Amino acid sequence: MGSEMEEKRKEHFLGGGKEKQEQQRKRGKLTAFERMDVLFDQGTFIEIDPFVIHDCTEFGMQNKKILGDGVVTGYGLVDGRLFYSFSHDFTAFGGSLGWSFASKVCKIMDLALKQGVPILGINDSGGARIQEGVMSLGGYAEIFRRNVSASGVVPQISLILGPCAGGAVYSPALTDFIIMTKSAYMFVTGPEVVKEVTKEEVSFDELGGAWVHNQKSGVAHFLAEDEQECFNILKKLLSFIPSNNLENPSRIAAKDDPKRTSENLNTILPSDPHKPYSMRTVIESIVDDGDFLEVQKHWAKNVLVGFARLDGNSIGIVANNPEVLAGVLDIDSCDKATRFTRFCDCFNIPLLAFVDVPGFLPGTNQEWGGIIRHGAKLLYAFSEATVPRLTVIIRKAYGGAYDVMNSKHIGSDYNFAWPNAEIAVMGPEGACNIIFRNEISQSENPQKKRIELVEEYRRKFANPYVAASKGFIDDIIEPKNTRIVLISSLNSICRKRERRPLRKHGNIPL
Ligand code: HXC
Repeated sequence: MGSEMEEKRKEHFLGGGKEKQEQQRKRGKLTAFERMDVLFDQGTFIEIDPFVIHDCTEFGMQNKKILGDGVVTGYGLVDGRLFYSFSHDFTAFGGSLGWSFASKVCKIMDLALKQGVPILGINDSGGARIQEGVMSLGGYAEIFRRNVSASGVVPQISLILGPCAGGAVYSPALTDFIIMTKSAYMFVTGPEVVKEVTKEEVSFDELGGAWVHNQKSGVAHFLAEDEQECFNILKKLLSFIPSNNLENPSRIAAKDDPKRTSENLNTILPSDPHKPYSMRTVIESIVDDGDFLEVQKHWAKNVLVGFARLDGNSIGIVANNPEVLAGVLDIDSCDKATRFTRFCDCFNIPLLAFVDVPGFLPGTNQEWGGIIRHGAKLLYAFSEATVPRLTVIIRKAYGGAYDVMNSKHIGSDYNFAWPNAEIAVMGPEGACNIIFRNEISQSENPQKKRIELVEEYRRKFANPYVAASKGFIDDIIEPKNTRIVLISSLNSICRKRERRPLRKHGNIPL
């Protein structure tokens, strides 16, 4: 009996066979087992269900059985923490999913959810196993339902390390983060079907390559050069997030002095308020060790989102980026900031907003695309967030965008402004053109009059003092002291526990 077990195990480790494993390696990809070895701390991965096989009898499948059925599932430690994981085996039926395969994935998802352990999915699959028909569609739906049950309860992260087609993209789409290698791709229907239906000729990469999903569609959150980098990004990401919604992210001992000033910030703003500067530099000057893990770096670049630490505590940052479109909010940047905000709120990660926003992007393109609906998402996400919330207005906070970007009125706990901040319904030039239109046109020297009125408006309204006089801003701070102020504010609010009225769920505008 013992030797039968050993023989079967050996067979299992060969997946779809030596030749197919070699093909996999030639493509620069590891096998499903090797990926588990790289991901988990040495010797800690425990496999479940290695002997599972399918029971499909159609299309000659009764003669093609592969132990494990094309997916490796189990649990182990990553940097000492417990995670559940599955890893598609492309060498077995192209990693395609049938009922037995799906049952294995569902089993570990159920185990993870029962005890609040995150789920890490390694995807490399041709989608629904065609020979199994509705059994594979049903199998996918069983997984999708569990993805949704686990959403906001345990973090779910998807690695895309090869082709992912059909059903194999919808499960990752329901998870919190997607990390793609440069040789991977994701699409609902492949180039051949696209050609047949739309006559459009497109390559795999053009249709669903890693750049497409990191830059154009916003489906992916991180781009990795290769599989090793993908695992490195994953581990870094995991370090910022707790294992479930009932835990706080773990605090690490900070090396960076909480009383450190950032002298460079006193001079970072250009004298011309229309000129850009680097918001990344602002962030890196403030957070511990200048370490900012940017999420969706290549998409909707007018807003920056990502994780960092303040005195060892994990925080989520949402910041306008004046270097792209002057930091204006548009459809994609609202979507990007909304999803990130909601992730942080689900998992007890305090939110910090850096504001420099001239407003929402005007134009038919945006209005017809539904900027009203998309902008409302961000308003909704900040308003419903119950984690500790901090805001620093760096320069402009105009119009609706002032409200949306984590203002006091929608529940932020501490709001600060730098001395040059301009908080107003709109910029001085635009405002004067509207409210002083007649006065300017009827004056003897309209040009001079406009300059005088703009200056007067700026003095009266485009400053932080009106907001501070009402308590909408808690204090006006010297830029170099921002880190010190934020750390003490976070320490003072970290025990916050806020509850919203009981309801089934809200109805965020989608
Ligand atoms: C069964 C599959 C398969 C599938 C691949 N294979 N996809 N078997 N069902 N969906 C098998 C191939 O027959 C082949 O078997 C082996 O896997 C490797 O595939 P290749 O085509 O040789 O590899 P490659 O050239 O690298 O191309 C990979 C691929 C391509 C791009 C993924 O195989 C492909 O386009 N597959 C179909 C993708 C697809 O349309 N899926 C959607 C299914 S519908 P042998 O024995 O020759 O090695 C779906 C709906 C779910 O998923 C809806 C939920 C919402």
